[in-house]
Amino acid sequence: MSLPTPTPTARAVVTGASSGIGEALATDLAGRGHSLILVARRGDVMEKLAAQLRERHGVDVEVRACDLSDRDQRAPLVDELSTREISILCNNAGIATFGPVAELDAGYERAQVELNAVAVHDLTLAVLPGMVERRSGGILMVGSAAGNMPIPNNATYAATKAFVNTFSESLRGELKGTGVNVTLLAPGPVRTETPDPAEASIVDKLVPDFLWISSEYTAKVSLDALADNKMRIVPGIISKAMSTAGQYSPRAVVAPIVGTFYRKLGG
Ligand SMILES: NC(=O)c1ccc[n+]([C@@H]2O[C@H](COP(=O)([O-])OP(=O)(O)OC[C@H]3O[C@@H](n4cnc5c(N)ncnc54)[C@H](OP(=O)(O)O)[C@@H]3O)[C@@H](O)[C@H]2O)c1
Repeated sequence: MSLPTPTPTARAVVTGASSGIGEALATDLAGRGHSLILVARRGDVMEKLAAQLRERHGVDVEVRACDLSDRDQRAPLVDELSTREISILCNNAGIATFGPVAELDAGYERAQVELNAVAVHDLTLAVLPGMVERRSGGILMVGSAAGNMPIPNNATYAATKAFVNTFSESLRGELKGTGVNVTLLAPGPVRTETPDPAEASIVDKLVPDFLWISSEYTAKVSLDALADNKMRIVPGIISKAMSTAGQYSPRAVVAPIVGTFYRKLGG
């Protein structure tokens, strides 16, 4: 198995391409010769990245500035992708909130569900029929180790990532033998940028530097895993420990322990 061969008409779509893991996925895919469609809200940031990738790798890069949590903005993109030759889809865009749901902004919590879960479903359903018809495609779902367990004080995020984790691994079973690869990236903490010591979170302070994994490393091993049609990629020691604890410990035991930790993240 491998990733679809790049062609002049095919496009790899990366959501959340304006920073972090998404930017690294777009850069890695361009390095592998794939022309791209970059999706996020900040069009100006993506235009700069697009110019760099065109110059460095000679690929075509299109930019779609779109708030994926907004159904009206998402609809034209979904329609477009359903008619284009999409070879790879990286469902990466996502946000998280911390603290008790009752105290959080209800509108933002709803937007988180739309972005982290509903948009992932919509975009996947848009590109899947074409991939199956062409008997070629790759879908990388960016879930999280947080989706393996109940997490008080991170409830909406954990629930949306549980959706992504389960959707990805279920879908994969349906696509066996179709030529379409589906891989779940379920990381623990990934250091997307070096934190300012004054603003470092409790996770930044607790996890020593050598245990952090970078966006670039995460992108590379994830795309390699997609090429190999692995079910799930969990990069880094902390991610693996979180993943194992979350998947194999009794949920009633895990919830209060992680809930206490995440309460501190909520400030
Ligand atoms: N970093 C970690 O430790 C970690 C761990 C586990 C899982 N993950 C998952 O990995 C993915 C990427 O995370 P990251 O750490 O790279 O985050 P990040 O640096 O904050 O990037 C998030 C990306 O999503 C885009 N985005 C946010 N809201 C959006 C919206 N409403 N519509 C369209 N795009 C939107 C952002 O772009 P704009 O602001 O330009 O819209 C940005 O490109 C997420 O799904 C996250 O849950 C991350």
